[in-house]
Amino acid sequence: MNTKKVIGWASTIITMISLNACSKNSSSTPATTTYFPKVKTIVSNNCLSCHSSSGAWSGRPTAFDSDSAIAVSATVIKTAVAGPWTFLVKQMPQESSLSASDITTIEAWVNKGGKITD
Ligand code: HEC
Repeated sequence: MNTKKVIGWASTIITMISLNACSKNSSSTPATTTYFPKVKTIVSNNCLSCHSSSGAWSGRPTAFDSDSAIAVSATVIKTAVAGPWTFLVKQMPQESSLSASDITTIEAWVNKGGKITD
């Protein structure tokens, strides 16, 4: 075997090892993700201007001031941001929509259990 061939084989093997390492990482991430901290940030950035006791609507009909207040409303929060909307549960936030990735985060949290520890 000449030197060029040896280098060729060596780089093929290194590429295969690194590709394998990458795919292992991405498949193990979802099980360990805790979504609530992200959900809390999304809610404070997009909802608290109205849904807090000091907000524009004094928290009516719901206030998301505390972790437990957010968790208690998990299912209706998911419906409000992702639909299906009805005359009882309207699209939130009122005059805009969350980004697709924020909606995905909220859905993933509620699907996991919608608790502060999820
Ligand atoms: C501009 C003020 C405003 C913002 C921002 C806002 N809301 Fe609302 N929200 C309201 C009002 C007003 C109602 C009552 C709507 C009605 O019944 O006509 C409401 C109602 C709700 C309800 C009760 C069910 C429904 O959909 O009517 C939920 C749940 C809710 N909002 C969640 C959220 C979430 C989650 C966010 C942030 C992603 C958010 N809201 C952002 C004003 C707001």
